[in-house]
Amino acid sequence: MTSLSDLPIRDDLRGRTPYGAPQKSVPVALNVNENTHPVPEDVAADIVARVAVAITGVNRYPDREFTELREAFARYLGHGLDASWIWAANGSNEVLQHILQAFGGPGRSLLGFAPTYSMYPLLASGTGTSWIAGARDADYELTPETAAAEIRRADPDIVILCSPNNPTGTPLSLDTIEAAYDAARGIVVVDEAYAEFMPDGEPSALTLLEGRPRLLVSRTMSKAFAFAGARVGYLAADPAVVDALRLVRLPYHLSALTQAAALGALAHSDEMLAMVGEIRLQRDRLVTELARLGYAPHRSGSNFVLFGGVDDPHAVFEALLERGILIRDVGIPNHLRVTAGTEPETTAFLEALAALGRPSGSAAPVNSQS
Ligand SMILES: Cc1ncc(COP(=O)(O)O)c(C=O)c1O
Repeated sequence: MTSLSDLPIRDDLRGRTPYGAPQKSVPVALNVNENTHPVPEDVAADIVARVAVAITGVNRYPDREFTELREAFARYLGHGLDASWIWAANGSNEVLQHILQAFGGPGRSLLGFAPTYSMYPLLASGTGTSWIAGARDADYELTPETAAAEIRRADPDIVILCSPNNPTGTPLSLDTIEAAYDAARGIVVVDEAYAEFMPDGEPSALTLLEGRPRLLVSRTMSKAFAFAGARVGYLAADPAVVDALRLVRLPYHLSALTQAAALGALAHSDEMLAMVGEIRLQRDRLVTELARLGYAPHRSGSNFVLFGGVDDPHAVFEALLERGILIRDVGIPNHLRVTAGTEPETTAFLEALAALGRPSGSAAPVNSQS
């Protein structure tokens, strides 16, 4: 049998490990920040009907420009955008890959602020782009000053700002995004995969697009829209950027079935997003209850919470898994990350964690009788 190291693989891929969040069949899966609420039945029925129509035409290639879908995304995003400002692909991971193919590559660099989404360095290596991990301020925050200083120091071709940031949950202020844009000479991507979980009225980077042709805002249907398995991500940026992405996409990259399904979900966006409020409640409950259990949760604008104060993350991860609960060890010392689930899933996690006992560094519980 041949092993990977025997193959004439690219030198820069030797020794790399692929993306590998565990995929285990467990009763309570809170490890990859999915929306754990299923698609409502009536919406599912409408999506199936649309896919059934689309399948009768798959002897032909799909609309390469997915015009109807881009129009639907423009309507959903608002902010005066039209289809010429929209791009989409099979998940926002593919959108980000298109960006790196068009604007990164050998001899070019991508700067992100660690700890951040684990796919950024992998997408960089896949496209031969060098990855630069910039530093954050205390508690994973990122001030305009720090962002601008790191960008000036590294002088990258592409900057990626994740807001709210995975795995920390930290939202970025528009001041930080503006400062990053002003300091950068190249492309600035704001990954807003979790934008819908931000507090109501909190402005998106979409408000900054006008007059900033190097600013790109990526979004996904995988999280708030409960559509992770359908693989649909999208982006808003100047039409010239969209033209650049057309140069690197494979022709007909969005299948007719994907386009039909995404259009169906967008036609019911109110219903698809109906659980966002409930998920925010469970997220806030996680923050409150984790602190009560003696852990140190970080502030989160997303559908997950990173918490510190864990004596042995590996042991806690395994103990929860034994009880049928899967969360994520993201490799940050003394930290674990958990997705806000349905109310019963969140309860199951909190009760199982409580049953493991209080972490060693924690003060006695406030309502302790002893
Ligand atoms: C910050 C961030 N961006 C992008 C993605 C990719 O999502 P998808 O490819 O499903 O759109 C994820 C998924 O976890 C994420 O956390």
